[in-house]
Amino acid sequence: MRTNELIDMLNRDLREEHAAVLRYLIHSYTEGEDTPMGAKLLTRAREEMWHMHWLGAILGRLDGEPELSPAEYPYDPSSRGRILQSYVTYEQNLVPHYNSEAEKVEDPHIKRVLEREAWESDFHAKAFQRMLDRLDTTEADSLPEAEADLPREFLDTLQREVAAKYTEMLEHIRHSWILPGGSSLGWGLMDQAMEKMRHLAHFAEDVVENGAEPDFSGGDYSRSSDPATALRTSLKRLQEARERHRELRAEEETGKHAGLVLNLDLTLKQEQFQEAEIGDWLRKI
Ligand SMILES: [Fe+2]
Ligand SMILES: [Fe+2]
Repeated sequence: MRTNELIDMLNRDLREEHAAVLRYLIHSYTEGEDTPMGAKLLTRAREEMWHMHWLGAILGRLDGEPELSPAEYPYDPSSRGRILQSYVTYEQNLVPHYNSEAEKVEDPHIKRVLEREAWESDFHAKAFQRMLDRLDTTEADSLPEAEADLPREFLDTLQREVAAKYTEMLEHIRHSWILPGGSSLGWGLMDQAMEKMRHLAHFAEDVVENGAEPDFSGGDYSRSSDPATALRTSLKRLQEARERHRELRAEEETGKHAGLVLNLDLTLKQEQFQEAEIGDWLRKI
């Protein structure tokens, strides 16, 4: 298989894995991360993040630009039972898909990763089937409930922050795969990306509790292969986010939500930490 064909194939897989991350993550927030079902879905979402990461890291080594827009995840949203059934079907279909891709590839690491994507998809199909089997009829026929109690404008602000933090996170993950600079820069970026996922969750959970689908549309991000240019873009994005979060923290409506206040205070400190770290990285380039 030619390198450009391999890059295209892995990018299609990356978009599928990305779709699975988002689907299980959103569903986990909808159930509540602290419910048994929400916790299981969150674990699945994290496993899909690893699947994404292996493919992205390979793409980086092949000098391929990772395609960071998610594919569509086909599912029947009409009840918990039908949603889970859709997940079982989706994961089952991935098993022959990845195995046939693995057969076409020579490189032993890429082959192993694709085979692993297949057997872990098989595990996911079985795990979702178990979740489905354990639902009683009432649970299977219903959907998680949410109460819309946030003012519209405040909800819109939170949605903008979800979309912005999601873009920040994707950009960091992309840089960690693509940028030269050794493994310490790559790891530092991935470490910050994981923290950004937590920040993202703080906003997204409040959005979902209010009955809305979080805005994971993702904006434009830097595709530069020059580390200084790429990091400067991320730094500017982070500084703008911190400024907005300071303003959000001071809003009267924010003060009414103790959990959000606690999380925003932590986010602001962590954003300041990230800013200083990126500043250091830039000085060493
Ligand atoms: Fe996967
Ligand atoms: Fe999966």
